[in-house]
Amino acid sequence: MAIESTLLIVKPDGVRRGLVGEILRRAEAKGLTIDALELRVIERATAEEHYGEHRDKPFFSELVDFIIGGPVVVGKLSGESAITCWRTLMGPTDPVDAPPGSIRGDYATVIGENIVHGSDSPESAARELKLFFGG
Ligand code: RTP
Ligand code: MG
Repeated sequence: MAIESTLLIVKPDGVRRGLVGEILRRAEAKGLTIDALELRVIERATAEEHYGEHRDKPFFSELVDFIIGGPVVVGKLSGESAITCWRTLMGPTDPVDAPPGSIRGDYATVIGENIVHGSDSPESAARELKLFFGG
């Protein structure tokens, strides 16, 4: 057990659908703390770096176009095991597999529009928090 911080993104589909409040409510209700929060449009270069691990995948350009296609809410969530806690609240990548009660299970149907992002490891969290918040 350890206090961790993780990067939250409410993706453009989540903002467009008016789910920002609901998503933040779930994070806070879990016991995570919002340490930073900002509405912004992600620049292409930042999105390409953020999703750099997927650069060679067939869906990469679609993924980048999607995440820069409208305002997002980026945030820093902190708390005990925050990285895993937030991934569990989000649910699996493909909403078809996401159980009811998870964000993706409750609000999404397709993998390309799955509402939220969360860092997938301590290394990713450190890299992504630096990219979006400078540390
Ligand atoms: P994210 O990074 O956005 O939080 O999502 P994740 O960790 O659950 O999934 P990841 O494997 O990192 O994939 C990043 C995003 O790429 C899209 N994707 N599309 N068409 C496909 O097969 C496919 N696979 C992944 C999803 O939108 C996923 O969130
Ligand atoms: Mg990921």
